[in-house]
Amino acid sequence: MAVLDIRDVTKAFPTTVAVDRFTLTVGDGELVCLLGPSGSGKSTLLRMIGGFETPTSGVITIDGEDVTRVPPEKRPTGMVFQSHALWTHMNVFKNLAFGLKLRRLPAAEIKDKVEAVLELVGLSGYGGRHVTQLSGGQQQRVALARSLVLEPKILLLDEPFASLDQHLRERLREEVRDIQQRLKITTLFVTHGQDEALALADRIVVMRDGHTEQAAAPDVVYREPATPFVAGFIGSMNLVEGRIADGSFSHSAFRVAVPVADGPATLAVRPEALEIIGASGAGMGRIHRVTDYGTHAVVDIDLPDRSRLKSMVTEARDWAAGQAVDLRPRAFAVYRDDAAIHRSA
Ligand SMILES: Nc1ncnc2c1ncn2[C@@H]1O[C@H](COP(=O)(O)OP(=O)(O)OP(=O)(O)O)[C@@H](O)[C@H]1O
Ligand SMILES: [Mg+2]
Repeated sequence: MAVLDIRDVTKAFPTTVAVDRFTLTVGDGELVCLLGPSGSGKSTLLRMIGGFETPTSGVITIDGEDVTRVPPEKRPTGMVFQSHALWTHMNVFKNLAFGLKLRRLPAAEIKDKVEAVLELVGLSGYGGRHVTQLSGGQQQRVALARSLVLEPKILLLDEPFASLDQHLRERLREEVRDIQQRLKITTLFVTHGQDEALALADRIVVMRDGHTEQAAAPDVVYREPATPFVAGFIGSMNLVEGRIADGSFSHSAFRVAVPVADGPATLAVRPEALEIIGASGAGMGRIHRVTDYGTHAVVDIDLPDRSRLKSMVTEARDWAAGQAVDLRPRAFAVYRDDAAIHRSA
């Protein structure tokens, strides 16, 4: 049982407010992904939870206990940093045993725990290896194991696989998910990668300038982004600036019914929901490029106002550069003043 509660936490550096009145509760056994652009405050927030940074104001509790000013080694948290910071002068076993020795556990128990955690991260038998003799992926697993072996109540992961290639990253994140679910450990995972967040998280928190832009289940963040920022940040999205007049959103390329008050608006439509129709009508769009990804193709369409939209199609060969086309958004959302004012059925 471990509930993490972050209440109205601010971290102001002399030049920047890195985290701005941030509030979040992570439930017992929940995996929350923090997602946001560079500089949005993700690492600072994690470091405050781990005790490596002190909040300017606000309170952090774990299972109801105030830990805001407790030093890292006295907190029930384990943190894996982006740069793994293993001790290169020690072998794998010693790296993992270090924290347990500080806790004065008997040698036999330390050995058992280290072996068990090595097995958990798929590195059985690697105890005697020198850290420098491991691949990047293996080093990250050791870093993860070093946190897990101390049996933290809260696991904090700051882009632990960012430096690894995509295949390895995918494999390791699946392993982390398996381990996290097996141990039912409350986890906060920072990532730049939206795919990673969508694949891993029970809940995603999208951060912007130190605050929460949206906190919701992955499918909700993807299908019903609360703001244009989230819409543009998660997945691929066409954001079209236009106007609503007399119940429809008008733009040089298309017109759709939107039953809201007149005024400027931003229409957000995913490439997979933007249909291309061979130019029977005005043909205001012109295909710039067709990119075939095998499973699907993406068509870039240039519009008279110099904007470029993307449409996902199943057959690349149906379309060709230079072709005049019309567009029809099938599912879309409309935003005004940073809030959703309409979603198509
Ligand atoms: N020790 C510090 N002193 C001053 N400013 C800092 C310090 N640490 C972070 N910042 C600033 O706080 C803001 C948030 O930084 P942070 O590292 O939390 O962002 P991030 O979301 O983790 O970014 P990235 O995705 O690039 O890792 C940035 O503007 C950064 O420059
Ligand atoms: Mg960071």
